[in-house]
Amino acid sequence: MIGVFDSGFGGLTVLSALLRALPAYDYLYLADSARAPYGARSAEAVNEFTLEAVEWLFEQSCPLVVLACNTASARALRNLQQRHLPARRPDRRILGVVRPSVEALAGIPVGTVAHPDHSAPSDASGLVAVLGTPATIASDSYGIELRKLAPRLRLVQQACPLWVPLVEAGELEGAGAEYFLRKDLEAMRASAGGEWPSRLLLGCTHYPLLLPLLSRLTPPETEILAQGDIVAERLADWLRRHPEEEKRLGRGGLRRFATTDDPGWFAERGSRILDDSLNVERVRLCG
Ligand code: DGL
Repeated sequence: MIGVFDSGFGGLTVLSALLRALPAYDYLYLADSARAPYGARSAEAVNEFTLEAVEWLFEQSCPLVVLACNTASARALRNLQQRHLPARRPDRRILGVVRPSVEALAGIPVGTVAHPDHSAPSDASGLVAVLGTPATIASDSYGIELRKLAPRLRLVQQACPLWVPLVEAGELEGAGAEYFLRKDLEAMRASAGGEWPSRLLLGCTHYPLLLPLLSRLTPPETEILAQGDIVAERLADWLRRHPEEEKRLGRGGLRRFATTDDPGWFAERGSRILDDSLNVERVRLCG
């Protein structure tokens, strides 16, 4: 199975795009809802929790795990790829959402292997923005990747600490949600000297659920990028370029859902995102 991990149910926005683009594969989605949100946690805690989640997915025989969670991708992916996999799991792969999102933000077409060691950086210029949790923004993961791939692009990054709690509470449209969205968008614009970015990346799994309100609060010239489709099309490309990995994946169209908290709560939220009823199991992650 392809393992898909998120701190909570927001990663189903990514899974939903994967199921549309790559429906034949088997998927196992894991949400660490009992310890979510990750966005305000320390780097150490996010590293520890993500390692436990990934190990659980490996134990369930996932050869490939996608970290749909930006906070986990930003805080834990490098450590997992550079230390954990070579030492303990050389036959497994973990992919995150930061790199593919930065490629899209920089306008690098799918299929261009824009590895900094192998090809020239993009010469795209102008202003782009990333919105994310405090942990994602504090890690500067988006800035680090963007400076490598498109050094002439200016980047403004804005932490939006209350957007995940708003989505968790189902506050997607009302006056309360509008107040906090406006506040953070204004802060982002102020950091950019009053300019709106040409592209605005939603660097958090929960934010696509705020899209209707966000589109009303941003000018039409600002293109809002949600990550689901970006991750799906770039994962499809990665599988084409790694046929030996692709061959290891089951193609029975299976879907399995697991959470570390109440399965009923998760199934109720998740079924609205996937537009399907979900059978959810409760699991424990070992420290
Ligand atoms: N899944 C997280 C992310 O994409 C958002 C929720 C959280 O803070 O755990 O950053």
